[in-house]
Amino acid sequence: MSTSRPAAPLRVLTGITTTGTPHLGNYVGSVRPSVRMSRDAGTQSFYFLADYHALIKCDEPARIQRSTLEIAATWLACGLDPQRVTFYRQSDIPEIPELTWLLTCVTAKGLLNRAHAYKAAVDKNNARGEDPDADVSAGLFMYPVLMGADILMFNAHQVPVGRDQIQHIEMARDMAQRFNHLYGEHFTLPEAAIDDAVATLPGLDGRKMSKSYDNTIPLFTPRAQLHKLIAGIVTDSRAPGEPKQTEGSALFQIYQAFASEEETQAMRRAFADGIGWGDAKQMLFERIDREVAPMREHYEALVNDPAQIERILLAGAEKARGLARPFIASLRHAVGLRNLGALPTAASAGKSAKASRPAFKQYREGDGRFYFKLLDAQGRLLLQSLGFDSPRDAGQAIAALQQDGPAALAALADRLQSLEGVGTDEVGAALRQLAEASA
Ligand code: TRP
Repeated sequence: MSTSRPAAPLRVLTGITTTGTPHLGNYVGSVRPSVRMSRDAGTQSFYFLADYHALIKCDEPARIQRSTLEIAATWLACGLDPQRVTFYRQSDIPEIPELTWLLTCVTAKGLLNRAHAYKAAVDKNNARGEDPDADVSAGLFMYPVLMGADILMFNAHQVPVGRDQIQHIEMARDMAQRFNHLYGEHFTLPEAAIDDAVATLPGLDGRKMSKSYDNTIPLFTPRAQLHKLIAGIVTDSRAPGEPKQTEGSALFQIYQAFASEEETQAMRRAFADGIGWGDAKQMLFERIDREVAPMREHYEALVNDPAQIERILLAGAEKARGLARPFIASLRHAVGLRNLGALPTAASAGKSAKASRPAFKQYREGDGRFYFKLLDAQGRLLLQSLGFDSPRDAGQAIAALQQDGPAALAALADRLQSLEGVGTDEVGAALRQLAEASA
C-alpha cells in the first residue's frame, strides 16, 4: 500500500456550443488559455463539444455538423492532447440527458424563470405586447439544467467560462446542493473560473468580437483572407506621421493579445511616432500569422480527415463514460431507481439469508484514506480496493459494483488490488448474487 500520494487533481471542465466557426476572440479568450491550463500537472481537464446545447439555438443540421468538426479540429490543432485530457462530444454520453432529468426534478421552476437568457426573451416579448413565452422553446428554458448535468456529471471543481455564464454555474451549484440535501453527498459544488488576465478581443468594428455582431476574424481563415480582414479593422483618420492613440484602438488591442511585452512596447512607440495605419496593420498581420500559421496547417489536415476526428471523439467518449456509467448507477440507486429483485422478501429476511450472502465492508485505514473489500458468504476476501480520497468515492465504487455487477469491474480496474488465488469468475458470481440482492 502506498503511503505518499499526489494531491487530488483539480477537475476543470468546459463546454463549447457547436454553432459557429472559431474566431480570434475564441482563441485568445478560451482556447489558448484552456490548452495551457490543460498541460498543468495538477489539473484533470474535461473539454467537450456541447452539441445538445447547439440544438437550442440552431435548427440547421449541416451547420451543427460542420461546426462540431471545426471546433474539434481547432482544439486539437491548438495543442489539446486527447491523451492527457478527456475530450468528448456531449451527445456521445447518454448519461448526460439521464442526469438532466434527475436534476430537472430537483430544480425549482422559479429558478429557471430567473435565468438571464430566458428572462431576456420574455422581456422582449412583453415589450412588444406579445405572449411572454412567444417563440421560447422549452429547450431554452431548460438550458441551465442541461448545463448543470454537464458539470455535475464529472464533479468539476472549476468551470472556466465567460462572465455571461456565471449565473449558470450558480444554478448548477443550487441543483447540486438540493440533490445532496435530498439524497446524500453525491455532487461537488462547482465554481466559475473567470480569468481577468485573459483579453476580450475587439472585432473589426471595435465592438467585442462576436458572431452576433458579424465582426469576427475566423481563426483559421486562409492567409490571404486574414490579410484582407485585418486591412478592414476600423481606425481613425490620422495620417501617417501623426501620433496615434493606443487607447481605444482595436488594432492595438488585438496586437497586444498576440505580442510579447517587448513587442507591445515597440508598437506603443511606433504609435507615438506616427506609424501609418497600413504599416501597423501589416505588423499585426505578420504577428498573428506567425502564431497561427503552424496550427493552421495542422487544422487543415484535421478538417480534411473527419474520420480521424470521429475516432478521437469516440475514444474520448469511452473515457468519459468510464466515469459517467458507474456514477449514474449510484445516482439512480440514490433516488430509488433500483433493482426490485433486491428487495428483501419476508422469506429471505432474517439472519440466515444475510449470512449466506457476499458482503462489502467499507473502512478507513491509518493512512487516512477510505477502502472497501468484498467478502464471500464464508468471509473469504474476494476484492480489495486501493485507497479513496473520501468515503463518498469509495461508496460510489461500491454502488457501481452493486448495481452493474461484473460489468463495473473494468471501469474500476485501477482502483482494485489484484488478489492471488481469487478467480474473476468467483468475483463475478458474488457480484451477480449481490446485484440481484441489492436494494
Ligand atoms: N453555455 C456555454 C456557453 O454558451 C457552453 C456550455 C455548455 C458549457 N455546457 C457547459 C460551459 C458546461 C461550461 C460548462 O458558453
